Amino acid sequence: MTVNITHENAVAVVTVDNPPVNALSQALRQGLIEAVAELDADAAVKAVVLICAGRTFIAGADVNEFGKPPQPPHLPDVVTTIAAAKKPWVAAIHGSALGGGLEVALGCAYRVAVASASLGLPEVKLGIIPGAGGTVRLPRLIGPAAAVDLVTGGSPVGAKKAHALGLVDAIIDGDLRAGGIAFANDSAGKPVPQPISGRAVPAVEAGFWEGAEKAVAAKTKREVAPLRAFASVRNASETDFASAMAFERETFLELRGSEQAAALRHVFFAERAAPRPPELAGVAPRDMRSAAVIGGGTMGVGIAAALRDAGLPVILIERDAPAVERGLANIRAIFDGSVKRGRITQTVADDRLSGVTGSDDYGLLADTDLVIEAVFEDIAVKRAVFEKLSAVCRPDAVLATNTSYLDPTAISEGVSHPERFLGLHFFSPAHIMKLLEIVPTEETTPEVLATGFALARLLGKIPVRAGICDGFIGNRILKVTRAQAERLLLSGATPSAVDAAMRAFGLPMGPFEAQDLGGLDIAAFQRKAARERGEAPFAPVAERLCAIARFGQKSGGGWYDYTPGDRAPKPSETAAAIITEEAAGRPQRLWDEASIADAIILPMVNEATRILEERVALRSGDIDLVKIHGYGFPRWRGGPMHYAEARGLAEVVAVLDQLAAEGLADAPCDGLRQTVQTGGFAAIAG
Ligand code: 3HC
Ligand code: NAI
Repeated sequence: MTVNITHENAVAVVTVDNPPVNALSQALRQGLIEAVAELDADAAVKAVVLICAGRTFIAGADVNEFGKPPQPPHLPDVVTTIAAAKKPWVAAIHGSALGGGLEVALGCAYRVAVASASLGLPEVKLGIIPGAGGTVRLPRLIGPAAAVDLVTGGSPVGAKKAHALGLVDAIIDGDLRAGGIAFANDSAGKPVPQPISGRAVPAVEAGFWEGAEKAVAAKTKREVAPLRAFASVRNASETDFASAMAFERETFLELRGSEQAAALRHVFFAERAAPRPPELAGVAPRDMRSAAVIGGGTMGVGIAAALRDAGLPVILIERDAPAVERGLANIRAIFDGSVKRGRITQTVADDRLSGVTGSDDYGLLADTDLVIEAVFEDIAVKRAVFEKLSAVCRPDAVLATNTSYLDPTAISEGVSHPERFLGLHFFSPAHIMKLLEIVPTEETTPEVLATGFALARLLGKIPVRAGICDGFIGNRILKVTRAQAERLLLSGATPSAVDAAMRAFGLPMGPFEAQDLGGLDIAAFQRKAARERGEAPFAPVAERLCAIARFGQKSGGGWYDYTPGDRAPKPSETAAAIITEEAAGRPQRLWDEASIADAIILPMVNEATRILEERVALRSGDIDLVKIHGYGFPRWRGGPMHYAEARGLAEVVAVLDQLAAEGLADAPCDGLRQTVQTGGFAAIAG
């Protein structure tokens, strides 16, 4: 049964039990309506506690139902029915009361919560707005300013903050059910509070709405839902309850069918599928109680900080004492930064730092569970490190490399017990970026692979399994992006036009600005290695910029010029002159923003399809997660693969064929052509 009713003297306890997260399926909505009718009719019942079984209160509408026509009873009617109940209902909240779950709680006469609970309206993160009175009841309960924050930001608040806002009436210490029943018994004798629908919205200062709207627009750029959610809160504050409910519902239903909502739903499910690949079902990871990082450079210190944030004791191994000191100082700088930003207190920072032991003695690693190597990108250096680790570590310790481009199999040659070796590719800065590519070799056992996924969960990262190839998933696609960006320059576009077009598409910065920020030397180094392998990487302009030491911001210029102390890119005559020379004799054309975006994004999709065909990625959704969490691809576009499917694969193939005919991109691969018939990438990945 989804809804169970028990009785504790005069209090009825309605328990919702709809695993895993008590989402508001049709059966649950129906069950709640029936519960109100049954308890209204029961003269022995004076008050009702609404509580949930399992890990959480109702976590919202059932997202699985969003692609389908809404089935009655509709959620607004459920909430209205609870609000009109003859007995006071008390929502007893643990876990998360989110979206429709919070809206149900707003229909109750009271809300109580355990201190660890969180409450929120995350609908904008799914490209929609609350659809069952959230934007209408909330300003009436907690005032327009707090309502705007909650509804347009989508982030939940903890129970204590919710209590301070007036969203929660009491915090329950100890057992929630018992506390909820005691609260209900108390309230049974008192007059029922006025339903939220009948309350007036507190007045706002002049100019409040205009200022708030500007702030929301600045934060959300091209995402549609936050401004529509804002409009609904504003409308709800300026009109009567019934009209406001109608306005909210209309917006909700419109956005529910929108492209952005479909894209954000796709990402929601991809993110939830990623940590639990079906091929690892039932495989237990190894224990991880301690960790070590070899190399205290850019990546090593970020990884060490991430491990400490997750509570693991960490040993940091560097080459010599001065390098150890440098590494520790850089970790300290990371924690200090978190204190400055208000993320952690000084006490927590001190505790995190005190959990890092720096040393140049590999002997300390004799009992460490997990070792992550982040030394120079040089196979000989890395092999020497793993030789030492093989000698000192326990045979069951998991050994991982953070290499970007080297072949993990080649690195693992000579490792004793190679079945415990794998690639763990973090992204810079490693304590912040959410993506973790997990790269098994042929010999890695499922148990060790599962340990990689367990580590991601522990660190709060999004894990994506990647096969071995140059650049794994993300950097392999990045190479295509960069080559395309140069092709554009040689056929008439400028760096600033390309960057502006990609920003207009939704990326935080364009490919040239990004290279200037990260440094052109890293890619130059990789191209050199590729040439040594007999490949012919395409970067004629970048090569020439590097030849004159224009490495980007750090050298005062790259694709753009920079004045000292100013990171704003200025068009560079030097770069323009090189582009003109390299473009000589090539056909030129006019580029608008849309065709620039096509010439960058669609070749990415083509390469990603090859990645799927080669099983370097197992699911197209994984590729979307890599681009969103590692490279800033706009989430509201769903990632490149979702974007291609939503746009129409026949059109994607046609545009690529046209670009290929002009010599501006590779022709679509066979797998991509086949998707036009099969209707999507699932068939390749299956
Ligand atoms: N609908 C359907 N399934 C959902 C769901 C939802 N709202 N929320 C979570 N799930 C599923 C997940 O897909 C996952 O399924 P799986 O086990 O088959 O992979 C399972 O529940 C567990 O989810 P998590 O792995 O995310 O579990 P956690 O314990 O880590 O987190 C949570 C729990 C905080 C509730 C988190 O799942 C969450 O944030 N869910 C989304 C909540 C949300 O966005 N609600 C608003 C929906 S929109 C709405 O209500 C509209 C209304 O205004 C009309
Ligand atoms: P870095 O040059 O900043 O740091 C490397 C560190 O390793 C130095 O501090 C060096 O002293 C230390 N080291 C070298 N040999 C050592 C040894 N034998 N024992 C102990 N320490 C040793 O390099 P960075 O950028 O941190 O890169 C490290 C690895 O991470 C490389 O494989 C790189 O490809 C990879 N990577 C880098 C990313 C980036 O954005 N910088 C992103 C993802 C992976």
